[in-house]
Amino acid sequence: MFHLNVRHLLLQQRISSLTDIAFNPEMGWTSCIILFLYVSVCEPWPLPDTEPLMHGVVQSPQYPQPYPPNLQEQWDLSVPEGYQIRLTFTHLDIEASAGCYYDALTVLYDTKILGKFCGHENSADGNHPGNQPILSPGNRLTLMFQSDDNNPERHQNVGFSAQYQAIDMDECSAPEPEDGSGPLCSQICLNTLGSYLCSCHHGYELRPDQRSCVLSCGGGIFDETEGHLFSPGYPNPPHHAVSCQYIISVESGFTVVLNFTDNFHIESMDTEQGPNCLHHWLQVTTSDREPMKLCGGKSPGRIDTNSNTVRLDYHTDDEGLSKGWSLDYSTYRVKCPLPGNVAKGRVTPILTEYFYRDYIYVRCDQGYKLMMDGQEVEGFTTMCQSNGQWHLLLPECHIIDCGEPEPLLNGGLTFLSGFQNQYRSVVQYHCNAPFYSLLGGINVVFTCEADRKWRSNIDIVVSPTCIPVCGQPTKLISVYQRIIGGSDAPDDTIPWQVLLNIDGGRAGGMVIGDSWVMTAAHNVMKGGNQVSKETVRMYMGITDVKTQLVSPVYAASIHIHPEYNNPNNVDYNNDIALIKLQDPITFNSSIMPICLPAEGATYVTGVMGLVSGFGVKETDNRRILTNKMNYVQLPVVEQETCSKSITSLKKTRDNVPSLSNNMFCAGVPEGGQDSCQGDSGGPYALRDDGRFWAAGIVSWGVDCGKQGAYGVYTRVTNYMEWINKTMQEN
Ligand code: ARG
Repeated sequence: MFHLNVRHLLLQQRISSLTDIAFNPEMGWTSCIILFLYVSVCEPWPLPDTEPLMHGVVQSPQYPQPYPPNLQEQWDLSVPEGYQIRLTFTHLDIEASAGCYYDALTVLYDTKILGKFCGHENSADGNHPGNQPILSPGNRLTLMFQSDDNNPERHQNVGFSAQYQAIDMDECSAPEPEDGSGPLCSQICLNTLGSYLCSCHHGYELRPDQRSCVLSCGGGIFDETEGHLFSPGYPNPPHHAVSCQYIISVESGFTVVLNFTDNFHIESMDTEQGPNCLHHWLQVTTSDREPMKLCGGKSPGRIDTNSNTVRLDYHTDDEGLSKGWSLDYSTYRVKCPLPGNVAKGRVTPILTEYFYRDYIYVRCDQGYKLMMDGQEVEGFTTMCQSNGQWHLLLPECHIIDCGEPEPLLNGGLTFLSGFQNQYRSVVQYHCNAPFYSLLGGINVVFTCEADRKWRSNIDIVVSPTCIPVCGQPTKLISVYQRIIGGSDAPDDTIPWQVLLNIDGGRAGGMVIGDSWVMTAAHNVMKGGNQVSKETVRMYMGITDVKTQLVSPVYAASIHIHPEYNNPNNVDYNNDIALIKLQDPITFNSSIMPICLPAEGATYVTGVMGLVSGFGVKETDNRRILTNKMNYVQLPVVEQETCSKSITSLKKTRDNVPSLSNNMFCAGVPEGGQDSCQGDSGGPYALRDDGRFWAAGIVSWGVDCGKQGAYGVYTRVTNYMEWINKTMQEN
């Protein structure tokens, strides 16, 4: 408040100094627009008659000629309020007389005579004012000049000439008025040009009367982060009732802490209920708490208001005595509750306390993901808000999962550890045994890693593959017999056997892969042309033709060996064909592939092979087309032996085909056991290391089971290159 007063004062002085210009008689009365830094734009104002001048000259009539007789002249001088008039005589020459009885210049302030002058500078009598100026007590001065009619020396007296000027009056040093109204200013008086200002000591403020001072309440709003407040006049009790309000208001997000000094004294009344702040009190009010009235002789010390706005109302009445109080306040950032922990995650930074504008971050442990409201989030931060609450609730860390592992065709997987595809779960792939086995044969284990991908224990494994198990039927034929001279094959013993129905005609084939059937070329040729694939029906997994009720498998494409050329049925060289199936087969105990020959596989003379088919069978010396799958075991015949047999047959018969190195023979010299019509394309299987492999394809023969003749089979080992190529390219 003191500062404010000073500022006010300065402004007053500026205005006062401008009044000099305002009252300049040469410029006349002016109105000025005051700009900053004393720059002023002044415009002449019409000069009112009554406006007082700042200075002037008063002279006797006809001065410097002698003044005429019988004069009675009066001048009423005035200067602006707040000024005195200083009158200085430049010359005075008036007829001298005792008491200036005849001619005189009388100077009056209202009715009070300040001087009565006559004579001249060197005259012995009269009353000459000399060089001493006359000062009026106020802003007025009256001059009265009189002369009589009788003066012998009149021609010698020229009268007077005087100058007057306005002099600033120091109101402050003026004695206290006698009317008992007290001093001009109760505390500090500051003289100004033409006026004065009152001001107050620290802790006081000027009353509306602009004279007296009262204890300051401080008042106003304290918005600094810290400050000092005290009761009016502290530590002295105020002389009268006070009712002061102080408001501390800082940015939201901060709380105000009051720290009362030890010297605390507010009158408290002893009532039946104990001490009570009945007449004097300091009330502390915050937005969300009950107001608190303080009084007594003990300092409340530190009060944490938990609010950013605090109102203090100090009230006393005219009675009683309170010395008052003093406090320092400071502000603290609002505190948020400890955020707590996140299971399987980390909250950072870890602090003992968290305040407004503090951030925390949550990260999940490896293998866990951040979840908020059931949604996964990339990252998480939350801030301590100005209301002391975190702006977001803590997230949760949920274990990640890798999703369903790639399914394995003809296989499956088992969890070695973990479940629900969760992080660190370990799954092992397996193929559906005994029909499939893992490519490479190694146990492939996949682990759900932190990047949510299933990763294998073996770097090179991209994805496991199940390959069919070949040549290993779930049941083995215990007694080998024959087709011509054979027996019915029990179920599941020759699961690669295919019954071919081509345009109504019966033939055989063998499953060599989940999409491939191998047969004889002559089965799928008619009149020098390949049969249309639509006419080919394949039945698998049966041992009885009647169970043809099972739906047939259809061909997607037929691939006859390019060098098969047998227009007259006398050249069965290259009698081999492959049929691609429309849909791959899933293997089971009744349908399984036969192995293709291994590299370097040989046909050892005398080694027994297994021939099978639904072809012609001999019963009671009659040949009938069997409805049951038959099989017979026949040995590999020496090529030389076979060749001789065919050469001799050619002598007695026409149109006997020739034997080539792409063929081999199987059978017994005495006959009685053989494949026959309808078996063509079927398998001749040799067994090595417990696996049956496709050594031959039933191709041709001279009659069936004839003595001295053998069945002729396509030598499959000669076609591996073509078979592999065809299967790869289609
Ligand atoms: N070419 C006959 C057929 O189409 C197969 C003859 C087999 N003959 C033999 N004696 N092994 O069914």
